[in-house]
Amino acid sequence: MSNIELDKALFEAAETVRVNAYAPYSNFQVGAAILADDGKIYVGCNVENAAYPVGNCAEPSAIAAMLAGGGRRIKRVYTTGPGATPVTPCGGCRPRIREFADQDVVVVSHGIDGTPLEQTIAELLPHSFGPEFLGR
Ligand code: THU
Repeated sequence: MSNIELDKALFEAAETVRVNAYAPYSNFQVGAAILADDGKIYVGCNVENAAYPVGNCAEPSAIAAMLAGGGRRIKRVYTTGPGATPVTPCGGCRPRIREFADQDVVVVSHGIDGTPLEQTIAELLPHSFGPEFLGR
């Protein structure tokens, strides 16, 4: 499958799950789709909470789905959200993705009224701390 076909599948998966996001406080629904090392696509959406800081972003929801479904490593990430500005992973999500991704793994961030932005996890989180520092 070409990257164009793959991104179409990831975009559709992220958009399909995004409508299920629970975001009554921000009204900012986000979808995330991960291509994992088992060849499957895993999805997640943001889940907010009345106690604001304990809400979850879409990306860790998709990572949890990946691990629960048997995937172990992230091969590509695609996030979708409202507006024209690419919905890039927040500062808390970047190390969460990095834990399961090689440095050259691409994260596609897409505000659906605009153009998708492609960045590697190394670009999003340069000089990062990771599992290998702890011998893993
Ligand atoms: N959000 C995500 O789920 N992922 C991102 O990459 C950016 C932000 C969520 C968190 C919160 O529920 C809402 O978007 C507004 O910040």
